[in-house]
Amino acid sequence: MVSDREIKNAVAVLRAGGLVAFPTETVYGLGADASNPEALKKVFAAKGRPHDHPLIVHIADAVQLANWARDIPPQAGKLARKFWPGPLTIILRRAASVSDLVTGGQDTVALRVPSHPVAQALLRAFGGGIAAPSANRFGRVSATTAAHVRSEFGDTVECVLDGGAADVGIESTIIDLSGDQPALLRPGWITAQQLQDALGMPLAAPGSASPRAPGTLAKHYAPQTPLLMMEADLLLELAASLTRQGKRVAALARSAHQPLLPGLTWIAGPADAASYAHDLYDNLRKLDAAGCDTILVEVPPQEAAWAAITDRLARAAAGSPAPDAT
Ligand code: TXA
Ligand code: MG
Repeated sequence: MVSDREIKNAVAVLRAGGLVAFPTETVYGLGADASNPEALKKVFAAKGRPHDHPLIVHIADAVQLANWARDIPPQAGKLARKFWPGPLTIILRRAASVSDLVTGGQDTVALRVPSHPVAQALLRAFGGGIAAPSANRFGRVSATTAAHVRSEFGDTVECVLDGGAADVGIESTIIDLSGDQPALLRPGWITAQQLQDALGMPLAAPGSASPRAPGTLAKHYAPQTPLLMMEADLLLELAASLTRQGKRVAALARSAHQPLLPGLTWIAGPADAASYAHDLYDNLRKLDAAGCDTILVEVPPQEAAWAAITDRLARAAAGSPAPDAT
C-alpha cells in the first residue's frame, strides 16, 4: 500500500516540522510532530482552524500514554485493552510537558491509537506522538481518501500517504475520562453501549462540566451546498416541488428508486450502517460537487448503529436555510 521509502520520507518530513497527511481507519489525519510547536502552528494555519480547538495525539500503543497523560484512571486501561488499536479517542488529564497548542489551553489531552497499518507503520517509525486533526479545511467534510485530502489542501501539504479509502468513514468516538464520571463527547463507530459494557458503568451525559470538544459545535462536517435532513416522503415531495421551480436538487436517499425529475442528482446510501458510514463523506462530496441548490438527506434509522451517522448529518445540516418550496 505504502512503501518503506514513503514511510521514511514521511518521518523525515515530520522530524523537519512539516505536515504529513496519513490514513487512519476512521478518516485521514493531517499530522504534525505533537512535540514541535512550530509544526503544530502549521496544522492550524493549513486547516484555518481556531487555536482553541484542541488536537488528538496519535500514538503507536497504549504504553506511550504515560508520556502524554497523568493520573490515568483504571478505566483508560480497560478501554485501551478492548478498543485499541481502533476508532476510540480517550480524553485524560494532560502531562505537564504537553504543548498548549495540542490541548487548546485545557488541562486535558485527547489520545488515540489508530489501527490502520499505514498509521501504525508511520507512528512506529516516527516513535513520538503525531497530533492530527481530520485532514479537511475547518468546518468542512472530513477526508476519507488521499484524493479528498489533495482536493482540500493542494500543495500546502507536502506529503500525503495514500492508504486507500478509510474503513470506518466517520471520526473516532471520543470518551472523556478526565472527570468524575466517563462522558461521551462525540459518538462514533464504537457505541455508547459498547463503552458502558466495557466499563461496567453508565456514561454521564456531556454537560457543562465536561471539557469543550469543539467538533461538537452545531455546524461542522458541512458541505458548501445547504443540506436538509427529512423523512423519505417529504424528501420526494420537496424534490418534486423544487425541481418544478427549475432548482437543481441533490439527494442522499436510502431507496434506489430514483424519481424521474429534471435536475435531480440521486445517490442511494447503502442499507447497512457500516457501509453507509464508509461512503458518507465521499457521497456528500459528490453531491456537493454536483452544483445543486440544495442537498436533501433522508433521515437514517433511529437505531444505535446509526447514531454517529445521524450526529454528523445533523451537524452538516445545522444552519442551512430552508428552501423556498412554495
Ligand atoms: O477519527 C478521528 O478522531 C480523526 C482521525 C484523524 O484520528 N481525527 C479527528 O480530529 O477527528 P479532529 O481534530 O477533526 O477532531 C477532534 C475532536 C475535536 O472536536 C476536538 O475539539 C476534540 O476532538 N478534542 C481534542 N482534544 C480535546 C480535549 N482535550 N478535550 C475535549 N475535546 C478534545
Ligand atoms: Mg474534524
